[in-house]
Amino acid sequence: MKPSSLQVFLDIATEAALAGGEVLQAYWGKLEGVEEKGRPGDLLTVADKAAEVAVLDVLQRHFPNHQILAEESGHQGEQQSPYLWAIDPLDGTTNYAHQYPFWATSVGLLIEGVPQVGVIFDPLHNDLFRAATGLGATRNRRPIQVSQTADLSKSLLVTGFAYDRQETPDNNYAEFCHLTHITQGVRRSGSASIDLASVACGRLDGYWERGLSPWDIAAGIVIVQEAGGKVTAYDGSPQELDSGRILATNGRIHEALSQQLLEVQPLPVITGG
Ligand code: IPD
Ligand code: CA
Ligand code: CA
Repeated sequence: MKPSSLQVFLDIATEAALAGGEVLQAYWGKLEGVEEKGRPGDLLTVADKAAEVAVLDVLQRHFPNHQILAEESGHQGEQQSPYLWAIDPLDGTTNYAHQYPFWATSVGLLIEGVPQVGVIFDPLHNDLFRAATGLGATRNRRPIQVSQTADLSKSLLVTGFAYDRQETPDNNYAEFCHLTHITQGVRRSGSASIDLASVACGRLDGYWERGLSPWDIAAGIVIVQEAGGKVTAYDGSPQELDSGRILATNGRIHEALSQQLLEVQPLPVITGG
């Protein structure tokens, strides 16, 4: 793919993410109702749906033949197209519904299955993260880089817990406890895209999570990689979007964090409400 084409995709992705973010800002603090999508705690608001319409409107106007995978409306477009937009109109719905100010619109583009363009817009903090393969990563149009932390014991990490956490012993609790114990801390922001953007700009050193969907991470993967970071599966093998698992770091702590994730034993299952 020519850099000039990627630049066009990046600019349109930016327009789409800004449109989504603008809708979210308009609804911020004014929600009248919140639905549950199925699993307890998996919320859906009118803002998720309206922001998705705004994002899709931009993308479909420019690229009517591309495929789209959007969290609230699913898959659409021409199956033969090598282009697939992975969209999370509101990443951090639980935060948004509780008026906890960490959420973003995430717009990623996969070309032949590989994430190559990513934009994450966090309107409350006025942070626009952008990247495309070979073009570098920026925050508000200024280049960003991952942190220099080389020692896992001196790192600050972030993770999350998927909505199926009450249903599976593979719920990330053991990993969270263990890594909290051996690092300077593990945060849980409630927005996977902001977690990846945070690793990309160096305010966090590493991120891991399971149970994710492609729209949560497609954009952030490109931004971390272009900021000099590393993204793999837990065991260091290539990350697969459909696996739901990701390990994204500044590169320097990658192997050590991978090793710890592989060694940790699940905690006994916690039952009851
Ligand atoms: C969620 C957030 C959260 C992560 C969950 C995601 P949503 O996305 O990214 O940080 O832990 O696994 O589903 O539901 O707010 O779009
Ligand atoms: Ca999400
Ligand atoms: Ca979402």
